[in-house]
Amino acid sequence: MDNQLYIPPEGPPQQSAPQFFDQIGWEKLYEIAWVQYQLFMETPIAHMFPQDEAGLREASEKQAEFLGGVMGGPKIYIEKHGPPRMRARHIPFAINEEARDAWLNCYKQAFQQCDGLGLDAEDQQILMRWLEGFSAWMVNRAN
Ligand code: HEM
Repeated sequence: MDNQLYIPPEGPPQQSAPQFFDQIGWEKLYEIAWVQYQLFMETPIAHMFPQDEAGLREASEKQAEFLGGVMGGPKIYIEKHGPPRMRARHIPFAINEEARDAWLNCYKQAFQQCDGLGLDAEDQQILMRWLEGFSAWMVNRAN
């Protein structure tokens, strides 16, 4: 993979996350993140993630805490780790469009397994669209 940094021409996400925290709650956010992170292990991006169960679980919890915070819940991620700076935090990992697809596919599969987080069909679409946009900004390698 080319190691030169790539900046998506669309720039940072223009929309803040949908404020669904009160509808979803922590339990489902931790659950979906854990399901998604376990699914990563069957994909070409598996090598990017902790290979031990405790490490993988911890990484999944970070994601749940980040998402809960941006969706209007308590800002646990920021309290623990400081400013999100998500694109910057992802730069050490070579993320191209293929990696983004793998990430999104795992999220979609986890979303189905977790009954769409209990959201109605319209809100499910809103959340997926936001994640599609946000994940585009995590892409940092052209190929
Ligand atoms: C586009 C595809 C993406 C890939 C391949 C990817 C990959 C990764 C990797 C490898 C880590 C480090 C895991 C660890 O060892 O702790 C990570 C961290 C993280 N990712 Fe992603 N990610 C992607 C998109 C996203 C998206 C869309 C979100 C949020 C909606 C997200 C949220 C996070 C968070 C909160 C962390 C923890 C950052 C930290 O505090 O170190 N990622 N991601």
